[in-house]
Amino acid sequence: DQARQIQETLAEFRLSKSQLLEVKKRMRVEIERGLKKESHKEATVKMLPTFVRSTPDGTENGDFLALDLGGTNFRVLLVKIRSGKRRTVEMHNKIYAIPIEVMQGTGEELFDHIVHCISDFLDYMGMKSARLPLGFTFSFPCHQTSLDAGILVTWTKGFKATDCEGEDVVELLREAIKRKEEFELDVVAIVNDTVGTMMTCAYEEPTCEVGLIAGTGSNACYMEEMRNIEIVDGTEGRMCVNMEWGAFGDNGCLDDIRTKYDQAVDENSLNEGKQRYEKMCSGMYLGEIVRQILIDLTKRGFLFRGQISETLKTRGIFETKFLSQIESDRLALLQVRAILQQLGLDSTCDDSIIVKEVCGTVSRRAAQICGAGMAAVVDKIRENRGLDHLDITVGVDGTLYKLHPHFSRIFHQTVKELAPKCEVNFLLSEDGSGKGAALITAVGCRQRELEA
Ligand code: BG6
Ligand code: GLC
Repeated sequence: DQARQIQETLAEFRLSKSQLLEVKKRMRVEIERGLKKESHKEATVKMLPTFVRSTPDGTENGDFLALDLGGTNFRVLLVKIRSGKRRTVEMHNKIYAIPIEVMQGTGEELFDHIVHCISDFLDYMGMKSARLPLGFTFSFPCHQTSLDAGILVTWTKGFKATDCEGEDVVELLREAIKRKEEFELDVVAIVNDTVGTMMTCAYEEPTCEVGLIAGTGSNACYMEEMRNIEIVDGTEGRMCVNMEWGAFGDNGCLDDIRTKYDQAVDENSLNEGKQRYEKMCSGMYLGEIVRQILIDLTKRGFLFRGQISETLKTRGIFETKFLSQIESDRLALLQVRAILQQLGLDSTCDDSIIVKEVCGTVSRRAAQICGAGMAAVVDKIRENRGLDHLDITVGVDGTLYKLHPHFSRIFHQTVKELAPKCEVNFLLSEDGSGKGAALITAVGCRQRELEA
C-alpha cells in the first residue's frame, strides 16, 4: 500500500552505523590521497594548503578591511584589533546584494561590483584615503602558493562568473581596484571561509584547530602536520589545510549511498558531477533533494492529489529557512500546511505529514554524513599526535547549522558515535569569518615587515 511504498522510498536515505563508518573510512582514504605528492593531482578531496601556520596568539594588532564572499551574504567589514592585556576587536560591516546576473556574468563584472561595494563602504566609514590592508574571505577552492595568491580551481555553489577559473583571484581584485581609480588597498591574504571561521573561534578558544561550514555549501579545514603536507616544503610545525570536502564522492566512491534523487539534483545543478558530497549535505541542495522526492511521490499519486504544480517544478523553492520551519517541533501540522500554502503548494493534512517526514529524513542523512566526515578529521588529528584520546574544539558557522532545529544535534551525536576516542567541543562562530580573515591579515602584515 501507499504508506509502505513511501517508507521504501525513504529507506534509502536511512543509513546504518556501518554505512556511516564506511563513509568515515572513505573520507580518510581521500584525505590521504589529497595530501600525498604522487596522488594529489587526481585527488577529489583537494586538501589545499592555506599558508596559515598557527592560530591567533593575541599579539595581532591594527585596522583591517575584510571581504566575505561566497555565503548567503556578501559583506564588507572594518575590523579593528587591539593586542595587549585587554585585547579587543571592534567590527563594522555592511551587507551587499550580489544579483544572480552578476554571480553568473563575467568575471570583470563580478569584481567591478565587489569594488563598487568596497567604495560605498569606505565612503560610509569615511576612510577612502586610508590604504588599509585587506583580507579576502573567498569561499571557493583556491590553489594557494602564498597567503596572498589563490588560483580559483572551480566555482561551486551558485557562482559561475566567466574568466575566473584558473586565475589568481587576488590579482582579479587588485586589477578591479585599479580600474576604479578611487582608492588604494593592500590585499594581504586570501582566506577560505572555513579557515576564517576557525581563526575567529580560535581567538577566543585556543583549542580550536578545526573549522566547519554547514551552510549554503559544506566544507572543513584543520591544522595538519607540515610533515604530512607533501606538496609544501618543510616538515616543521603545522599548516591549516582547506579540505574542500564538498567534492568527496566525485570519483564515484559514494555511489552506493547516492539515490536517484541525488542524481537528479546533480543533473539539475550548475556543476554536474561535481561537489557530490556537498549536494547531499548542504543548505543549497537539501531543499532540492526534498523537491525531487516530492515530485516523484506526486507522480506516483501519493501526494498533492497527484498534481505536480508549477511551484513544485521551481528550482530552489525549499530554502534552508523553510526546511527549518517545516521541521520545527513547535509547529503544529496546520502551520506546516500554512508554510506549504505560502510556497503555493496546496496540501491536505496527510500531505503535510508526508512532507515533514521527507524533510526530516533528508536532513538527518545530511547531518549524519557530515558527522562521518568530521569523525574522520578528528581521528586523523588524534593519530597525527599519537594520542589515545584527543580533546579538540571545532569552530562552526553556516545557516544550516544555525537555523535548522535538528541538524546540529544529529551531527554532534554522529561525531561522538563514530569517533569515540575524541572529545569534540563545538563552538559557534558569532562574528563570521571576517574577523578571522582580519587576524590572518594582521599576521601577514607582520611577516611582510619582517621580510622587508
Ligand atoms: C558566515 C561567514 O557567517 O557564514 C561566511 O562569515 C560563511 O564566511 C557563511 O561563508 C557560511 O554560511 P552560509 O549559510 O551563509 O553559506
Ligand atoms: C563550497 C566551497 C568551499 C566553501 C564551502 C562553504 O564547498 O567550495 O570553499 O568553504 O562551500 O562555504
